Amino acid sequence: MKRRNIVAGNWKMNLTVAESRDLVSAVLAEIGAGFCGCEVGVAPNFVALAETAGALESSPLFLAAQNCHFENDGAYTGEVSARMLLAAGCSHVIIGHSERRQLFGETDAVVNRKVSKALQEGLKVILCVGETFDEREGGITGDVVTRQVRAGLGGIAGIADLVLAYEPVWAIGTGKTATSEQAQEVHALIRKTVGELYGAEAAEGLRIQYGGSVKPSNAAELFAMPDIDGGLIGGASLNAADFAAIVRAAC
Ligand code: PGA
Repeated sequence: MKRRNIVAGNWKMNLTVAESRDLVSAVLAEIGAGFCGCEVGVAPNFVALAETAGALESSPLFLAAQNCHFENDGAYTGEVSARMLLAAGCSHVIIGHSERRQLFGETDAVVNRKVSKALQEGLKVILCVGETFDEREGGITGDVVTRQVRAGLGGIAGIADLVLAYEPVWAIGTGKTATSEQAQEVHALIRKTVGELYGAEAAEGLRIQYGGSVKPSNAAELFAMPDIDGGLIGGASLNAADFAAIVRAAC
């Protein structure tokens, strides 16, 4: 049986609180009637989380944060913990996004600590992996992605509350999408790697999203691939009609 697709809008550092509330209303209006069995959520910035949680109440959408710290509290100026995210109404958190890794120096070890803490506190985790353009050109995509998966999951006992997102860095925000075959190849490798760590049954049940310039025009083809179980959507998630069209493609 095909896994239940999961689509999440990663709003990144966009939208004020009021703008976030407006976008949620527009998204709910757009997908309301045609809502199907797939799982859908949005990830606003930290300050918009509580307000967005209110706007999502009694809707089927989940609320995700875009990052969290690996401690619950303490002297970590500027950081937000998993415990705080739960209290603000989040059920999910995105960890290890390539922008965090590349622009904010997050290593595999830091990503792993965050995954561990978020799961321990009761959040569901969307763990992102993906190679850069140079790594793909250098023929080491498989090595990089396998390393990120193994390191990110180091010491994690179970993956029932985890979703992986394969996001080739060269495809993020660039308009260049991996072809469905390129994406499928890496998704299959990720599933194989997870199988080596947790067994075939757990790997079969794991959802693996694709992310990187997903649009209404390419979503259906990507989601039709056997190991692609929905998407992590950046730019297109800021437009309610486009996001709804992508959700419908995941139905
Ligand atoms: P994009 O971003 O859809 O704008 O390429 C995807 C992501 O970074 O999650």
